[in-house]
Amino acid sequence: TVMKDVYGISDLEIDLQQKLKLKRVIVVPGQSEETEEDKKELGRIAAQHLLSILREDDIVAVTGGTTLAAMAEMLQSVKQYPQVLFVPARGGLGENIETQASQVAAECAKKAGAGYRMFHLPDNLGSAAFQSLKEDPYVREMLGLICSCSVVVHGIGRAMEMAVRRNASREVLQQLKNGEAVGEAFGYYFDRQGQIIHQMETMGLRLDNVQQARYVIGLAGGKQKAEAIIGIANAGFLDVLIMDESAAEGVSLLV
Ligand code: F6P
Repeated sequence: TVMKDVYGISDLEIDLQQKLKLKRVIVVPGQSEETEEDKKELGRIAAQHLLSILREDDIVAVTGGTTLAAMAEMLQSVKQYPQVLFVPARGGLGENIETQASQVAAECAKKAGAGYRMFHLPDNLGSAAFQSLKEDPYVREMLGLICSCSVVVHGIGRAMEMAVRRNASREVLQQLKNGEAVGEAFGYYFDRQGQIIHQMETMGLRLDNVQQARYVIGLAGGKQKAEAIIGIANAGFLDVLIMDESAAEGVSLLV
C-alpha cells in the first residue's frame, strides 16, 4: 500500500504531482477496475476530499459514470450544506440511470443536506432541436446554473471507449483517431498533450466554465486509463487528480 508522510502525502503522489505538473495528486490504495470494494474506496476518498474543500454557497457540477456513482454512494456528511447546490454537468440521457450525472447530483445532495437540480435531455441532440431548446426557459435556467458552478467533479474515460459507448458517428470516430485522442471528460476529447480534439454538441458544462471554477476534481481508476489521465492532466484545469493505485502505476510508466 501507499506510505504517506506526516502531511499525509506519499512519495508516489509527490512524484506524480511533479511529473504531471499538478498542484495535488491523491492516490487511493487498490485496483478499482477489479474489485467493487476498491472502487468504493476511491469514491469514499473523493467524497471526503470534496467535503473538505466545500464552501457554504458552492454550486457543484458533477458528471456521470461509475466512478462518480461510487463517490455519490460513499458520500457521508454529518455537516449539512443547505446553501450548496449540486447540478449535473450535462443534460444527458444516453447512459445507464444509476450513473447519470443527474442521479449523482441528487444522491450527493441528499447525503450532504444540499439542494440539487436535475437536467434530463438527450446527449446527442440534432442541431435544430439543440438551437430551439436553448431558448427554453427551463433549459436556460439550468445552463445558467451550470455555467456559474464553482466546483467541478468529473470522471475520466478513454476517448475511443467513450465515443463508442455514446454511439458517435463514423466521422467523429475518424476525427478522434486522426487527432490521436486519448481521454474524455465532460464531453470533451483530448489528446495526450491536452489539446481538444473534439467536443460533443451537448448542453451543459463548457471548458471555460471549468477553467473559471474555483476548484476542479478529476477522478479515475484503472491502469487502462493511464493515457487518458495524462491527457486530462495536461489540459491544465485540474486542482486535484484523485486516482487509484493501478492508475497511478500506469501513469508512472508513461511519464
Ligand atoms: O459519461 C460521463 C463520464 O463522466 C465521462 O465523461 C467519463 O469519460 C466517464 O463517465 C467515466 O466513466 P467511468 O467512471 O464509469 O469509467
